[in-house]
Order: sequence, then structure tokens, then C-alpha cells
Amino acid sequence: MEYEIKRFQADAAIIGGGVAGLSAALGLKNKRVIVLTKSEFGRGGSTPIAQGGIACAMGKDDTPELHAVDTMIAGDGLSIKGCVDVLTREGPARIRELIEVGAQFDRTPDGELSFGREAAHSRRRILHAHGDSTGAEVQRALTEAVRRAENIQVIENCYVVDIIRRDGRVIGVYGIINGTSTIIEVASPAVVLACGGIGRIYQYTTNPVESVGDALAIAARAGAVLSDVEFVQFHPTALNTTVDPLPLLTEALRGEGAVLLADNKRFMVDLHKDAELAPRDVVARGIWAQQQKGLPVFLDARCVGEKFPEKFPTVYSFCQQAGLDPVKDLLPVSPAAHYHMGGVRVDESGRTTCLGLWACGECCATGVHGANRLASNSLLEGLVFGARVSQDIVEQIDWTKPTVIRDGDYSPVMQRTFAGPDEEADASLLRKTMWDDVGLVRCEASMTHALSVLDELSAKKPKSLMLRNMIDAARIITTAALDRKESRGGHYRSDYPEHDAQTSHHPFVFTGNGPWC
Ligand code: SIN
Repeated sequence: MEYEIKRFQADAAIIGGGVAGLSAALGLKNKRVIVLTKSEFGRGGSTPIAQGGIACAMGKDDTPELHAVDTMIAGDGLSIKGCVDVLTREGPARIRELIEVGAQFDRTPDGELSFGREAAHSRRRILHAHGDSTGAEVQRALTEAVRRAENIQVIENCYVVDIIRRDGRVIGVYGIINGTSTIIEVASPAVVLACGGIGRIYQYTTNPVESVGDALAIAARAGAVLSDVEFVQFHPTALNTTVDPLPLLTEALRGEGAVLLADNKRFMVDLHKDAELAPRDVVARGIWAQQQKGLPVFLDARCVGEKFPEKFPTVYSFCQQAGLDPVKDLLPVSPAAHYHMGGVRVDESGRTTCLGLWACGECCATGVHGANRLASNSLLEGLVFGARVSQDIVEQIDWTKPTVIRDGDYSPVMQRTFAGPDEEADASLLRKTMWDDVGLVRCEASMTHALSVLDELSAKKPKSLMLRNMIDAARIITTAALDRKESRGGHYRSDYPEHDAQTSHHPFVFTGNGPWC
């Protein structure tokens, strides 16, 4: 294939245009920043569709310490205290900055910020915007701030292929503009991975098309250490329709009193003292167990009443599109892959183990979420650690040395970015295999089967970068899940259903050498 190469020079190249990537970009005030987004800037990725709010200890009866305690409990023994403290302590300042750049959160009639309650939070501390459209408001405010910033250039529709390294350090990235043979090459001493999660490697997910595990695959190919990758959070209540991604029915509905029914009975009351507000993994597996018995599960959110369209406009519109009226109808639900707790291992500054490579947002593992993320902590994590990454880049890079990419530092190898019709069946097989074999309930036999399917798929030498990355991410997650012989948080093994105290404080570090697809 004949490529046209467009060359750029930056002080920092940021892969991803969601809350974490844009927070990092905006923190690099006097630097030349290039943000590479896989789809249209401001629209793709998880941030704009995040319904749940932002947890932040800003209420009068709340403290960062209380928020940290709740986060640690949710993390089920694997959250790293130092990182959790950073999150909860620095969160309020980052929220105030976000408000300064224009984000509008819901307020009480007397103009104070309004704080909602969600499962496993001991205080009312969840900020929302326009009811259930918080992510969209955060994205809007950050996107507009980036558009105003003269030092930031955005290159859209660019699917990053790989990081470029020489002599053990990162010197840039290259990507391909979707549907073209135009290569984008960015020479930069600092590269930030902020390109989201892995939900699309599962058949049922709330995640957008972008979330195919690019960061895991890119980082693994570059030799970076990954951590906690076996911990995938399945949201209990996606609307069970035929659309993909499945529409999310926010947990805030259960916070308002909505209950789960199978065979017309509430089943969560028998499974946990907090019933529908038990930790997400418990509720998700509770629903899964009913489904395994052949019983459809419904969310009864009629308690919200006539205010439903005003309080939950996004959910209301999803229901309408599915021909349902949540004020009157029961809503069919299913668990769906929602969030990846693990990822590229980083320290408190967002530094990976690869010199010159940082990561923030869902694609990284700060250790904040441990084995299970506390609801509404992810937008906050993107804000806090995105800002920390920018500060660390400014301090770490030797700005006197130019960064140059030479011929031979990389060779363009891609034939295509997204999977074409010829590869759709393979992508579907991968997603079904991961759902069946490495999903809410896993065991050695199912995961061994998954690995054999992944081997067959990679033996076919996929043409698309997307499918290649999906195979790599799926293999990484499955290998780590096979290795963790216990159940904890989002990782439940039917052959090892108990916690193993021995492994409780040893996050799995993935340093596999491939083979990468
Ligand atoms: C939800 O609103 O249920 C999702 C929020 C989150 O995942 O943090």
C-alpha cells in the first residue's frame, strides 16, 4: 500500500479526547499539544455518554476521608490507599476548575450544588448535570475549552497504530486517518494514552464503538506493565434490547427506589442486605443467576413517577425508542460490560513503566478502583489524574532536547483501521466468546476455550487494527483471569468462588511478551 505521511512535532501527544485526555491537554498550558481522537472530536468515546455523575466530597457532611473509605471498600482489598487519597483529596479543586471552564452542574433552588446518593456511597456526594447527562456536559465544557486553547491542535478520525520508541524511550506515535492511506506521525517526547476501555470485546456492553482495548494492546506491544486487567465491571441494568451498545439504565434509578423483579418477585432482598443497592458485581451476578434459570429480569422504576422525563431525560428517551414508557412499564434489563478497572499500570503521576509514556482515565490502572469501581468515581479519576499527568510531563521532560523520528523508527503496517464486512463475523465471535467464557462468571475450562478461539482468530492474520487490538486485549484479560485463582470484585470464578487472602494485596502485573496479533 502507498502511504502519504503527514509529519507533526509536539511537546506532548495525547491519544484520546475524553475527560482524562482533555484534562491532561488543558494542563499543558505553554506546551504544543496534539490530541489524536479516533472519531469526531467531542462526540466519540465514553465520556459524552456517561449518565452517572461525578462523586466528589464537597457536601457539608462529607470529607475526602469518608469518600476514600467508601472507595476502598468497593475496591475489595485491591485499591491502593495513596492513589485513593489523591483522588478524593484533589477532586474538589478539579471540580471547581471544571465549573470555572464552564461546566454546569445541577443545583438546589437556592443555587447550591445538588448532591445525589448512589449505591455504596455513605454520603450524598454525586454531582449530576441535566439529570442523567453529566458526561455530555463535562465533555462539552472541556471540548470548548480545548477549542479556545491556541496551544492545542486536535487531529480527528485518526486511529493510533503504535507508539514509536528509540533507545528505550518514547519518541512519538503514528496513526492512520480512518478510511484513507494517510499516516499521521507525531514526534513528541511525551505520549499520553487516554483512549478508554475494553467494553466492546464483550457481546453485551454499554460502551461506545471506540472502546475496543486499544490502550491495552498498544501498551503491551510497547512492553509496558499492565495491572488488574482481569477486573471488568458489568453494570447490572442495561436496557435489554437488540441495539448495540445496550442503553444504560443508570444506577441512580435504584437510588430513587427502583427495584428488580424476576417472576414478579424481588430477588435481591434474599442476596444482600442492601438489596438492589448492593455492590454492582453482586447485583449483576444476581440478575445473571435469574437469567440462567430462564427468567427474564425487569427494573420497576415506576416509583419515579411523572417526573421521569425531567429527572432522567436520557433514560426516558432510550425507553421511548424501545417502545417503553418507564412511568408505566417494567423495563427488561441485562448486565452488560461497562468499565475496566485494570489497565496500563501507572503511578500517582500517571507514569507508566515505559519512559516517555503516561496514561490516564479508564485505560490505566492507578490502583484507585482495585477489584471493583465505586459508581461515579471514573469521571473524577479522569479529571484528577489527567491534571497530574500534565504536571508530571512538564517536570520530567528535558525540554532542551529536540525529538526526532528517523526513517526506520517504525514501518507502517496497517491495511485498515475498523473491521470491514469480511471481519465482522470474527469480531462477533470474539465478543460472544468473551461474554460466554470470560464474563460475569468464569472458570478454567471456559477461559481455556476462549484462548483457543483467540488463537484461531489471530492465526487468520486480521487486516484491521481494531480486530487486532480486540484480540490482544481479550487475550491479555483472559490470561490474567486464568492466573487469578480466587473470586474478588468484578472477577468471579465458579471454580474458585472464595477470596484468597494470599493474593488480596498483590495486584496482578501483566508483563506478557505476546504473541501479539
Ligand atoms: C450509572 O449511572 O449507573 C453509571 C455510573 C457509573 O458507572 O459510574
